[in-house]
Order: sequence, then C-alpha cells, then structure tokens
Amino acid sequence: MADKHKKNLSKYTVDLNMPGAFEGETVTRRRFMNVTAQGLGGIAAAAFTLPALGFALGPVFSREPFEWQIIGRPDDFQPLVYSLRVIALVANVGEAGKSTAYIRKRDPAIDVEPEDEYNQIIALTSRCSHLGCPVEWVESASIFACPCHGGVYNFRGIRIDGPPVRPLNRFYTLIRNGYVYLGPMYSVNVEIKRFSNRDPGQPLDGIGQYLYPSRFSTATLPPTTNLPLPPAGIPAG
Ligand code: FES
Repeated sequence: MADKHKKNLSKYTVDLNMPGAFEGETVTRRRFMNVTAQGLGGIAAAAFTLPALGFALGPVFSREPFEWQIIGRPDDFQPLVYSLRVIALVANVGEAGKSTAYIRKRDPAIDVEPEDEYNQIIALTSRCSHLGCPVEWVESASIFACPCHGGVYNFRGIRIDGPPVRPLNRFYTLIRNGYVYLGPMYSVNVEIKRFSNRDPGQPLDGIGQYLYPSRFSTATLPPTTNLPLPPAGIPAG
C-alpha cells in the first residue's frame, strides 16, 4: 500500500503507468508538445501585439516638451489692461501649435493669490474651460465672454456665469534679463490655487481635483536655467 502511494507520487511516467512511457522520462511527449506549441504561439502573439500596444500607448506616457518663450518686456504690460499675445502651445509644429493668451501685470489689490516669481505677470489662456472655445476680452464690461455657450469670466478669469466648471487656465511667467518669459499652462480652482493642466470640462473645486487627475503627458515646469535668448536685433535688457 505504502509502495503504491509512493509510485503515485513519482515524477517518472513509468511509475505512473502512462501509455508509451520511457524509462527516466518525467514529462509525457504529449505534454511536451502542448507546452512547446503554446509557448511558441504566445511568442508569436506577443511579437505583433506588443509593438502595436507600444505604438498606441507610448504617447500617453510621454511628456510634452515645453520651453520658455519670450513674450515681451515687463513694461509692455499694464495692470488693468489685457494684451493679446500669440504663443506656441506645442513647439515645432508651426501654426497648428499656436494659441493666444491674455497678458497683464500683476496688481496686488486685485490678485490676492500668493505671490511668487511665476505670477508677476498674469497670463490667461484664451480657451474656455467648458469645451475650449476661444473667449473674448470685453474691455467695456471687464469680462471674458465665450461665444459658444455663454460662459462668462470676471477680470481675473474666474467663471461668473454659464457652464464653465472652473476659471480660465493660466501660464507660468517669469521675468528674467529684462524680458517676460512664458512657460507651460496650468489649471486653477476658484481660489487660483495651481493644479497641473486639466482638460476643458474638468472641475477642480471639491472632489473634482481627485476625480479628474491630469494626463501623464502634461508638460511640467521646465528648468529656469538656459532660458532662450531674445531674437536677434532686440537688445538684452
Ligand atoms: S465652450 Fe465656452 S461656454 Fe461652452
């Protein structure tokens, strides 16, 4: 009885009384062929699936490169008047990567969010935070109006009417060497607290900031060393 039990536990096919067993064989030929065929099938499937997956998912995880760009001199901008600037949102793709931003100087009486080196110049995107339509600065009413669904933002870009779910996105700015540099875009909540860039329609107040995390590809703040030089012909400040 004990010997039979020992034979049942044996790793040899002969001891297990398998048909066609060989002395010293531990894996049946049928099982060997099955495992080999399945292994080769898996390798073949991976050979055409993995490159396709990498091609499809790669861009999701690659960060958009972003470089500081010069948008003028500090005195080109006033505290109570917005100036429109054409900016490059995506580098090296020509007109398709361009957008517009509304720029003004910070006014401590109006801009009560914490002050630092990145908000001495206030730069707002022209893209509505509802679905991305271009908003217009209406100087007479001191508001930004969106023509698509009636979104309205106040002077600071905070939504005051219509369907937008958060204020207008902003850009990091920096004053160096007598020039104003514009950096990547970021999103803000109603208190103008900074968050990494979110897509239109994604709220940032309350639990919205947790429900709508930013995309992996969102550009991060680039180093402030090696800033680009001003265009030839414009004297350094
Ligand atoms: S896109 Fe601006 S209100 Fe809808």
